[in-house]
Amino acid sequence: MIGGNPKKSILHPLAHKAKRWKRQVLHRLVEAKTIHGTSNSQYRKKVIGIYAGQRGAMLARSNQISGHFRNGESVFKNRQFNLRGAKDILDIGSGSGPILSHLIEYADENTNITGLDISSVMIDRARKRLDSKRPRFVLGDLAQLPFQDEAFDCITCGYALEHVPDTRQGMEEIYRVLSPGGRVLLFVTEDTFVGAWTSRIWNCRTHNRKELYDLFKSLDFELGKEFWFTRFHRMLRLGGICIELVKRHPITSDYLGSVAAGDQVIAAGRVSAVSSPN
Ligand SMILES: C[S@@+](CC[C@H](N)C(=O)[O-])C[C@H]1O[C@@H](n2cnc3c(N)ncnc32)[C@H](O)[C@@H]1O
Repeated sequence: MIGGNPKKSILHPLAHKAKRWKRQVLHRLVEAKTIHGTSNSQYRKKVIGIYAGQRGAMLARSNQISGHFRNGESVFKNRQFNLRGAKDILDIGSGSGPILSHLIEYADENTNITGLDISSVMIDRARKRLDSKRPRFVLGDLAQLPFQDEAFDCITCGYALEHVPDTRQGMEEIYRVLSPGGRVLLFVTEDTFVGAWTSRIWNCRTHNRKELYDLFKSLDFELGKEFWFTRFHRMLRLGGICIELVKRHPITSDYLGSVAAGDQVIAAGRVSAVSSPN
């Protein structure tokens, strides 16, 4: 668990403002300019074009060379993010399919796996690369997911949220299609030096960790584990923001009645154990 009680700050309000201003300036400096000053539809077309081209074609290979594939696999293999019991998993921004291949390997045999991407070219590449009947592929936009409410009990989203101009809109969609108690594994580009390069190569945004966590909380997500692929990643703040989120259960008598004594529940912002009626 992270993000407990915020530390009480002794900074003067003006110092707070200066800090926020500095962060905003840095944001603008590190983020690629292309995402600002273009309409959402122009930006969307640009992203589709980038992934249809050479950079998209190289993605699977560069994932292997950079260790991204292996590092991502360790999160599932070591059950840091446990896929056991998940019935319907959605991988958003599935790209060339690295996360899908881990889902195929580490999720239960009868789990339904869906890959969604905005680029039909990337979907074709993933299909060929994975050569598996298991994932179904859907062409769609994270900002407007083509699924019913609460359709999935588990969602993975690797480095795609930074391609959505309105982050809140993207996260609201993830929240909408996730069932109560469902879990999300999110990897997002951070506003660090390495993130700045990523932003320039892929024309994506970078995110400030604290601001993003505040957004998650405002959407009523419970912040779960924070992941670092290796100690090296943690030390140099590589790999971006990697976090597990849990959608809280609304507290209804139906829900509480369905929970067994001793179970851990996430409701009303707290994890607590349900006690036995006797
Ligand atoms: C950096 S790649 C990441 C691929 C893969 N998840 C991984 O971890 O390697 C981002 C992928 O997100 C897709 N994407 C970008 N914007 C998207 C959007 N709005 N909705 C869905 N997919 C999107 C791109 O087409 C691309 O395949």
